[in-house]
Amino acid sequence: PRQFFVGGNFKMNPISRGQKESIISVLNSADLDSTTEIVIAPPSLYLIPLKDTVRSELQVSAQNCYFKDSGAFTGEISPAQLVDAGIPYVILGHSERRTLFHETSEFVAQKTKAALNATLKVILCVGETLPERETGQTAVVVQKQLQAVVDVLQESDWGGVVIAYEPVWAIGTGKVATSAQAQEAHLDIRTFLSQAVSPAVAENTRIIYGGSVTAANCKELSTQPDVDGFLVGGASLKPEFVNIINARR
Ligand code: 13P
Repeated sequence: PRQFFVGGNFKMNPISRGQKESIISVLNSADLDSTTEIVIAPPSLYLIPLKDTVRSELQVSAQNCYFKDSGAFTGEISPAQLVDAGIPYVILGHSERRTLFHETSEFVAQKTKAALNATLKVILCVGETLPERETGQTAVVVQKQLQAVVDVLQESDWGGVVIAYEPVWAIGTGKVATSAQAQEAHLDIRTFLSQAVSPAVAENTRIIYGGSVTAANCKELSTQPDVDGFLVGGASLKPEFVNIINARR
């Protein structure tokens, strides 16, 4: 059985430290399902203070990292530095990084390998755009994004990977995938993993859904057999994030 996983991707929010305290105090005092693995990903500036102030049930994640350990790479943070700071997770390949910062699947794969080598766990994001979905290319696009990672990982590396299926058209739009759309995409990913890596990796890897997840739609999505949790953007900054963590209750 795969442990239910809920991540909060704060993106480039909040913009004041006071706002951050209020989100954290809600989480710190809430009644949280102890069977859910919970990870919050604040901007890198807040990683260490957050790690030191959140309850032990909450883990923290970076939103990105580079693939080198150190050196002349202005503006970047390395996997080794995250490990040194006691940060267990990193999000890689988010669609905002692929689109706005031109990250290719090969670059995402290279960073995924480096992060895993450094002992970080990786939330690896994949997903298709609306034109790609409308032309029937969803499975092909997602498989291409995953194949780049399959090409550089060993089978044993996959224990450190959570796959986030985030259709680009659902991110920040209020247009959540239907539970049937999510289930179909997640099952396609699992079938791909079985063939491209191994049946055991397919069975054990969490595949979580992201894109306009809210307290109102999380319950139905969470009943789908291949939906193992969520990566939440906007709603992770609000008290309703607690309801999403508790979706399976
Ligand atoms: P929203 O939940 O705001 O749609 O964002 C999803 C996301 O990108 C999580 O990584």
